[in-house]
Amino acid sequence: EINFFFPQQKTLAVIKPDAMEQHRESILEEIHGRGFSVTQLKEMVLSREMAEEIYKEHKEKPFFDQLVEFMCRGPCLMLILTKENAVEEWRDMMGPTDPDQAKVTSPNSLRARFASDILHNSVHGSSNEQHAKEKIQFIFGDISSDAELEGDRETDR
Ligand code: TYD
Repeated sequence: EINFFFPQQKTLAVIKPDAMEQHRESILEEIHGRGFSVTQLKEMVLSREMAEEIYKEHKEKPFFDQLVEFMCRGPCLMLILTKENAVEEWRDMMGPTDPDQAKVTSPNSLRARFASDILHNSVHGSSNEQHAKEKIQFIFGDISSDAELEGDRETDR
């Protein structure tokens, strides 16, 4: 079934170090179950510089240093997810930043089930399409040739 209202969109999703050992497979299953395509994926231990770049919008926040340190403490799984309305749908799947809130308002969300606190909250997702484009480019390099191929496929159907 084709959705004519939302074009295909990409978002950056990250399984954070706290969720890698125990919840990675469940999270991946759920991503597929919700109809996302995993366009690319890469497991990596982030350097400090990379974590700072990914979260540079939060540079002035009091939790920035803890956040960067946590993101570098072990492997992360970086994913490009493609779907109609992917940015919003992935954020919806993640749930609110704070798992205590998530448990109340979105008990089925990933953070409600897998996160332990507001810092160790299991998953990341871009907050808008512009950030998604920037961070995907930063982590995966230039994927514009993929995007063009998809653009062609869009016009075909
Ligand atoms: P933010 O972009 O506000 O949340 P989200 O990940 O839901 O888009 O914050 C980025 C990350 O910073 C968040 O996932 C966990 C961390 N963080 C804290 O450690 N303490 C806080 O009070 C907030 C708001 C975020």
